[in-house]
Amino acid sequence: MIQIGPSLLSADFSRLADELKDIEKGGADFVHLDLMDGHFVPNLTFGVPVIAALRNWTNLLFDTHLMVEHPENYIESLAAAGVQYVTVHQEVCPHLDRVLHQIKENRMKCGVALNPSTPVETLACVASLVDMVLIMSVNPGFGGQKFIPYSVDKIKVAAELLKTAGNTRAVIEVDGGINAEIVHSVVEAGATWVVAGSAVFGKADRAAAIASLRRQP
Ligand code: DX5
Ligand code: ZN
Repeated sequence: MIQIGPSLLSADFSRLADELKDIEKGGADFVHLDLMDGHFVPNLTFGVPVIAALRNWTNLLFDTHLMVEHPENYIESLAAAGVQYVTVHQEVCPHLDRVLHQIKENRMKCGVALNPSTPVETLACVASLVDMVLIMSVNPGFGGQKFIPYSVDKIKVAAELLKTAGNTRAVIEVDGGINAEIVHSVVEAGATWVVAGSAVFGKADRAAAIASLRRQP
């Protein structure tokens, strides 16, 4: 069963609470929250105080994607804000094992995101620790970019890696450039959590947009 998570990055930032309620009503399984710091990626979004404020407006699961340097500085406050999933980028975590444990100690699920150019094999040593592997199918930083086709093969490698590690609880999430035409290929490869920004918030009818992503041929 695939889970559809609209990315708030493509929502109307002047009406975030309304936008959240709209996707919740429209059948979203979770909401994907992109934190950016202007360093790891060349863009800025919102921080933990905004997430904490939004927590009051929805029961949707909060899936945070940290595109920031030093993600370890945000873990405690994200837990206090009521976030369920925290995903950090492999590329900014020389002490990845430590950060993953820090997330778990704060009673949240931990994920690792990989840029398109980062091989899945870099996760071999932590494969049994993770609750999520996030395959970035665009270069992180912006919504509305074009899906990178070789991401499909990376999803298959991630599925194998988790299987080899005996990790049956971890999910594979895919993020970037997903639309109703592409979703089939990533799900077939083994992704079960699908993030979509512009494909949901770019449409007037969010329920219809979510339904068309969920529909499998
Ligand atoms: C990009 C973000 C994505 C983005 C996806 O760096 O991580 O979550 O919002 O947007 P779309 O689906 O429009 O590519
Ligand atoms: Zn994201």
